[in-house]
Amino acid sequence: FPILPPVEEEWSFAGPFGTYDRAQLQRGLKVYKEVCSACHSMQLVAFRTLHDLGYSEAQVKAFAAEYTVQDGPNADGEMFERPAIPSDYFPSPFANHEAAAAANNGAAPPDFSLIAKARGVTRGFPTFVYDIFTQYAEGGPDYIHSLLTGYGKEPPAGMQIAEGTHYNPYFIGGKSLAMAAPLSDDQVTYDDGSPQTVDQYSRDVSAFLMWAAEPHLESRKKTGFSVMVFLILFGGLVYATKRKVWSNVA
Ligand code: HEM
Repeated sequence: FPILPPVEEEWSFAGPFGTYDRAQLQRGLKVYKEVCSACHSMQLVAFRTLHDLGYSEAQVKAFAAEYTVQDGPNADGEMFERPAIPSDYFPSPFANHEAAAAANNGAAPPDFSLIAKARGVTRGFPTFVYDIFTQYAEGGPDYIHSLLTGYGKEPPAGMQIAEGTHYNPYFIGGKSLAMAAPLSDDQVTYDDGSPQTVDQYSRDVSAFLMWAAEPHLESRKKTGFSVMVFLILFGGLVYATKRKVWSNVA
């Protein structure tokens, strides 16, 4: 059955000079925390990195403390639970892959740490192009946004929808997926006046997941630009030197 290509959206972080929109990342974090984190882990992201989103250290501490993590063993050899601190990583909603699959009709929700990159090789570019030019990374957020807003359509005639699965024309699996539409209008409260719609939530959480997967995107783009300027100047110098050195050779 056909899979629709993701709709190409405008992202603030697109292009060679793109930057993240901090307010959008903060809204995306809220959507992740209040909705997605019930099923999707984000094991490689530490609370301390939320500082990048424009939060103060005290805010990061307070945010981390809302989570409980496993620690230990203590002096008695026992594991124990404690409130998270900034150096901890986002705790997972399930004990392991098997438990995650068992709770979700056999399909474990993928970890979110790198999902925006894992689904980012679209827009017609092969992987190595994506690896060199991070600015083509928008394919991942395009896909996540399309997937989240793509529910509720009629499946093509003849497609079998297995029990407990849901049709979504953008799902790269090419069949119905185990995730039901996770978002609905007004589900998450925004305090900056942004629209509380499925479209806006999807946009914000997709941008947030891009940041989670590629937190150094801005500095990489800056470095890339400096390198290009340097190479152009250096190329000019090398050319001028070559002309000078070889000027007496007939
Ligand atoms: C899969 C996003 C909330 C359960 C996925 C995938 C994405 C995603 C991008 C990967 C699809 C693929 O493999 O290409 C999100 C976002 C959420 C969210 C952004 C929050 C807004 C949830 C919730 C649940 C859930 C709350 C559980 C109730 C699943 C499951 C899969 C999945 C079971 C695997 C589907 C399959 O392979 O058939 N989700 N999700 N998700 N999600 Fe979510």
